[in-house]
Amino acid sequence: MRRIKALKPEQDAFGEMIWACYKGEEVYEVIERDDGYIDAISSKIYFSDYEDWHPIEQKAMQFVEGRVLDVGCGAGRHSLYLQKKGYDVLGIDVSPLVIKVCRLRDLKKAEVMAIEDADFKPDSFDRIIMMGNNFGLFGGFKKARRLLRKFHRMTSEQALIIAVTRDPYKTDNAAHLEYHRLNKMKGRMGGKVKIRNKFRKYVGRWFDYLMVSKEEMKEILKGTGWKTRQFINSANSHYLAIIERL
Ligand SMILES: C[S@@+](CC[C@H](N)C(=O)[O-])C[C@H]1O[C@@H](n2cnc3c(N)ncnc32)[C@H](O)[C@@H]1O
Repeated sequence: MRRIKALKPEQDAFGEMIWACYKGEEVYEVIERDDGYIDAISSKIYFSDYEDWHPIEQKAMQFVEGRVLDVGCGAGRHSLYLQKKGYDVLGIDVSPLVIKVCRLRDLKKAEVMAIEDADFKPDSFDRIIMMGNNFGLFGGFKKARRLLRKFHRMTSEQALIIAVTRDPYKTDNAAHLEYHRLNKMKGRMGGKVKIRNKFRKYVGRWFDYLMVSKEEMKEILKGTGWKTRQFINSANSHYLAIIERL
């Protein structure tokens, strides 16, 4: 398998943004899509406490048991919450700087590792959490299925994947609707977006991020050893998926 190495320092725009926020600066996450669409959100969310999380992420924590893998852990808000509750949590992230921040925030187990490279012994985890829309890190239909099969090998019999995503079609933003339409014309999933982060002089590498409807998620899971047990909706397009191991 092609190894996706950790980001090089000049590519770690997300990590630089997290680092600046950790040092107390007021900064924003800037996300560029390959059609030129730019979005920006306050970075504070990545350091928020449980009380300020999206309600579906609060709910997600109720499904946690046993040994936890936090994929794309960012500054570690979910891992740290779970560690404090006594769970054995490993946070992994492709950004060396966010892992540095996790360690400085006293997360005991934090490793620089891309989702594509995550490979652990059978029965290593009981729960895999993908918070902050991180179902998106599955990247695309085929890649998601390959990674799900690998997650199957790494997890215990009763394992769950607890993932947040957003239904891309629940929007009336004309630019997004046009992007979905063009994707479908190219034979891609509508909600597969090519994005990168920018922060000051740092420019992240382009990567595919996948947003899916519930029906699309069910299609992806077929034959991978996983199936959806439950969806929990929010007031907007975000939803929580509880995915069980077969
Ligand atoms: C939207 S942030 C969510 C962070 C955290 N889960 C949260 O909710 O606070 C996405 C995270 O995924 C990480 N990431 C991006 N691509 C990745 C990859 N291929 N493998 C692992 N982590 C990745 C980013 O560095 C970032 O920390």
